[in-house]
Amino acid sequence: MSPHQTPRNGAAITAVELAKSYPGGRGKPAVRALDGLTFEAAAGEVFGLLGPNGAGKSTAVKILSTLSRADSGSARVAGIDVARHPDKVRAAIGFVAQKSVCDPMDTGYENLVLAGRLQGLPGPAAKARALELLERFSLSGARDRLVKTYSGGMARKLDVAVGLMHRPSVLFLDEPTTGLDPEARADMWDEIEAMAGTENMTVLLTTHYLDEADRLAAHVAILDAGRIVASGTPEGLKRELRGDAVIVETGLDADPVAAARTMADLGDVREVSRDGRTVRCRTDDGAAALPRVLAALDGARIAVASATVARPSLDDVYLRHTGRAYSAAIGEEVAA
Ligand SMILES: Nc1ncnc2c1ncn2[C@@H]1O[C@H](COP(=O)(O)OP(=O)(O)OP(=O)(O)O)[C@@H](O)[C@H]1O
Ligand SMILES: [Mg+2]
Repeated sequence: MSPHQTPRNGAAITAVELAKSYPGGRGKPAVRALDGLTFEAAAGEVFGLLGPNGAGKSTAVKILSTLSRADSGSARVAGIDVARHPDKVRAAIGFVAQKSVCDPMDTGYENLVLAGRLQGLPGPAAKARALELLERFSLSGARDRLVKTYSGGMARKLDVAVGLMHRPSVLFLDEPTTGLDPEARADMWDEIEAMAGTENMTVLLTTHYLDEADRLAAHVAILDAGRIVASGTPEGLKRELRGDAVIVETGLDADPVAAARTMADLGDVREVSRDGRTVRCRTDDGAAALPRVLAALDGARIAVASATVARPSLDDVYLRHTGRAYSAAIGEEVAA
């Protein structure tokens, strides 16, 4: 485990070598969704679990929130073993699933009160908490409207409020912003930040969006094919990359493979990679390297549509550890 992961005030979530396979069905081989997942999230922090479609994020969250069982390995949440004491774990956690569980034919208020009652709150306490959370998530004005009339962002905020009714010490958020428009996403980010700051709660957030994890998470782990391929603070992971990225988009008629080869032949660049028409490389000083890259491409008669220099981003971290660009790995999600 890297030094970045040493918890400051105890671990709220510990997963050790979790493995889980699903039957493949119709004679197909089993799907190994988790393949030795190990990580730790410190109490009171927002921890980001990142990864492309099918990486195993939801499977991990389901096991940690006791909705599913691991084939092997162990996990503790809020200090409690998930396999031995699932009831105790359930009392300590909130869980916001990837798909909404709110009843569209009930009002926001009714959904919250019902959730509170199911979570064991007495009636008056459930009603008071529902009103408090509606206020907190700026949904008071919509409290008596049917959820089916809510916007996507409002419905998602209600989902999070449902998870918070019984004041959990650990909250699992499975892709809280997927499918939201940029404004609703920014709004949700503000809510998650405020929530983590005031409730002294540990939040495990899964996401496709590297910028989301960068903004919200104290620590992140990148999951690929059921294993952690990188973990640490967003800053630490970026620092490990050393240097800038030079990103060149080749012209429509240009040959990007030839562009990649030309760039690889330059002495002071490294880690050349290509994704469609985009060719990237890493270099110690991007501003100095860019003119040389452009001159070399010009010399090879390769047209360039655009060229940029960027400080390392979590996308670069992802590329380094999985060998493919994040947008390529998650396919159309990013384009949508
Ligand atoms: N109930 C199931 N039966 C069979 N295979 C499953 C089941 N649930 C998940 N899988 C498979 O396990 C792998 C991991 O799935 P999981 O849902 O955990 O990924 P994810 O990272 O949450 O993906 P996404 O970003 O699309 O939500 C995938 O290959 C998926 O097809
Ligand atoms: Mg998922």
